[in-house]
Amino acid sequence: MLGIEYPIILAGMGVTAGPTLAAAVSNAGGLGVMGVLNLEPEEIREWIRRIKTLTDKPFGVNTVLPMGMPAGINAETLRAMIPQEVKAFAEKLAAEWGVPAASEGPPGLELTDDVRRKQLEVILEERVPVLASGMGDPSEYVNEAHARGMKVVAVCGNVKQARRIAEGGTDIIVAQGYDGGGHTGKIGTMALIPQVVDAVRPTPVVAAGGIGDGRGLVAALALGAVGVWMGTAFCATHEAAADTIDMARISPEEIDFWKQKLVEASDSDVILTRVITGKPMHVVRNKFVETWEKEGPACLFMPLQSMAIDELTRGIREARMTELTCATLSGQAVGLVKEITPAEEVLNNALDGAATVMEDMFQRTVNAGG
Ligand SMILES: Cc1cc2nc3c(=O)[nH]c(=O)nc-3n(C[C@H](O)[C@H](O)[C@H](O)COP(=O)(O)O)c2cc1C
Repeated sequence: MLGIEYPIILAGMGVTAGPTLAAAVSNAGGLGVMGVLNLEPEEIREWIRRIKTLTDKPFGVNTVLPMGMPAGINAETLRAMIPQEVKAFAEKLAAEWGVPAASEGPPGLELTDDVRRKQLEVILEERVPVLASGMGDPSEYVNEAHARGMKVVAVCGNVKQARRIAEGGTDIIVAQGYDGGGHTGKIGTMALIPQVVDAVRPTPVVAAGGIGDGRGLVAALALGAVGVWMGTAFCATHEAAADTIDMARISPEEIDFWKQKLVEASDSDVILTRVITGKPMHVVRNKFVETWEKEGPACLFMPLQSMAIDELTRGIREARMTELTCATLSGQAVGLVKEITPAEEVLNNALDGAATVMEDMFQRTVNAGG
C-alpha cells in the first residue's frame, strides 16, 4: 500500500525527524516520516521540497490534530489566558537558575487551531505520498488526501479512537501503546495492538510504543500488526535533528547532549509529564520537568502550557544551558538505544534481529518435532 520494501516506519517527530533522517529511512527501504508540528506552514513546504531532493522513495509528513484545542482563538487571546501564578513560577525558575531573558524575536510557533489548519493545507497542496496524523482524527481530510493520490495514516491510543478513525476512511491505523515516546495514551502496547487489530479489521494496523529492535518487530507481527512505527530507536542517529540544527532552531550542543542522554538512559529514566505541552508525554527525566512537577502550578491545556513555558525554554536554549533543556522526549524502550549510529543501521539491525528471532523459533519448532 505504501510502496515500501520493509515494514518499518520512522515515527513523525517534531524537531527530530527532518528531511535528512526521513530520507535516510526511506532510502533504506522503510518509510521516513517527517515531523513538522513545530514548523510554520511555508517551512513545511521547504522541508517537503528538500526531502524530494534527498530521496525518490515514498515518505510521509506528520502533524497533530489534537482534540479539545480552542478553535477560532488567536495566539494573543490565548496568551492572555495564562494565569499569573504560572507566569510567576516560570519567572521564579528563570531567576533561580540564572536563565537570561529570551531574545526579542517571535515566540516559538503557537499551535493554534488556525496554524494547524494552514499546516494541513500545505501538506495537501504538496501531495505528499503519506499524511500521518499524530494525534486526533484526520477523517475530515481523508477524501481530499485520497483525491490527491495520498495515503492517510493515523496514530491512536485506544480501541474507541481506532474504530472512529478507521470508519473515517484512514488507510492505516498506528496503534501506539503507553510505552511510546512523546505524547502517549494509557493502554500498554502488548494489550492494545491485538484489540485494535480485531476492532478495525480489514484496515491494516501498525504497532507503536516501545518497539526498539527486531524482537519488537516480530512481536508486533505476532500481535497482528503489519509493521512498526518506531520513534525513540531513531532518536540517537547521526541524522536525527540535522535539519533543525541547520535552521539554527536548536544548537548542535543541545542535540549532542540529548542523544548522549538517550544512550545513557534506562527504562526507568522515562517519566510521564504534562509540563511540556499540557498533554501527557514521555520524556527522559530532567531538571526542568522534575522541578515543575514537584513545585509548579497545575499544567494548562494544549497549547497554553507550551506557550506558558516558551519564554523560559527559549532563554535556556539561547543561553545553551543544555542541562536544563526539556527537549528530551523518549519512550520506555530507550534502554535499547546503546550508541549513536546511522539511521540505516537501526533499520538493518531491526530487520536482521527479526530474521534471527524467526529462524530461532523455526529451529525450535523443528527440534521439538523431532
Ligand atoms: C523525540 C520525539 C518527538 C516526537 N514528536 C512527535 C510529533 O511531533 N508528533 C507526533 O505525532 N508524535 C511525536 N512523537 C511520538 C512518535 O511519533 C511515536 O508515536 C513514538 O515515538 C513511538 O513510540 P517509541 O518512541 O517507543 O518508538 C515523538 C516522539 C519522540 C521520541
